[in-house]
Amino acid sequence: MNLNGLPYVIEPMQLRDVAEVMEIERLSFPSPWSARAYRYELQENNLSHYLVARPQRPLARKEPGFWARVQRSLGVTASPEVNILGYGGFWLMAGEAHISTIAVRPEWRRRGIGELLLVAMLELAVELGGDLATLEVRVSNVAAQSLYQKYGFAKVGLRPHYYRDRGEDALIMTTKRLTSAAFQSGFQRLKAELRQKLVERFPAQSQEVLDLPSPSTVP
Ligand SMILES: CC(C)(COP(=O)(O)OP(=O)(O)OC[C@H]1O[C@@H](n2cnc3c(N)ncnc32)[C@H](O)[C@@H]1OP(=O)(O)O)[C@@H](O)C(=O)NCCC(=O)NCCS
Repeated sequence: MNLNGLPYVIEPMQLRDVAEVMEIERLSFPSPWSARAYRYELQENNLSHYLVARPQRPLARKEPGFWARVQRSLGVTASPEVNILGYGGFWLMAGEAHISTIAVRPEWRRRGIGELLLVAMLELAVELGGDLATLEVRVSNVAAQSLYQKYGFAKVGLRPHYYRDRGEDALIMTTKRLTSAAFQSGFQRLKAELRQKLVERFPAQSQEVLDLPSPSTVP
């Protein structure tokens, strides 16, 4: 997805990101993964693909205080400067992109970053030859289910007592074929709407500071 003119970048997760990922992980999940599990995913698991959403640093350096202003304008009541706003990952196995995790820093939620990460993962899965995407989600996790449903994931099954911490059931949710016209027509529309939403929320004076094309000139 084209992120020109926006204050976010999506990049592969690096080993040096694990400490900050763990901060978000602990704030996001009742049974967080360990740092060791993330290091395994990054260093040893050839099937895994992990991405992070970061603030746009190089541009921010052009003006001190840039991020403080962006945060104020976006209504983020955080926080010290951060390097990671959210992350997500999937395993690609036999053409199936199995989304293993997605989380956004709590104070940055409801600003399109989870959606941006999901879009980036689905785009990468297609690029790598993935045929469909699937995942498990807690039956109580309405926010995540709503995100997945928006992107065409349908409930296809249940894994009883899947989560050991509370014995909660997992819903299995799966997309249509990622390259099918049925999936792609909705996906392209949602991507365009997301970009528009992010551009509108990003303050105009900050776009000037970034010295990037104005939203109206960016496709
Ligand atoms: C799920 C999660 C990643 C969503 O991230 P986010 O950045 O807040 O989501 P976005 O702002 O991109 O929202 C995109 C869509 O998700 C859905 N959504 C997100 N938060 C929601 C909420 N609290 N209630 C209902 N729907 C919600 C909506 O459909 C929304 O689309 P809309 O803006 O058109 O209504 C975030 O809530 C999170 O980190 N949760 C904790 C970790 C977790 O549960 N991960 C999922 C594991 S399966």
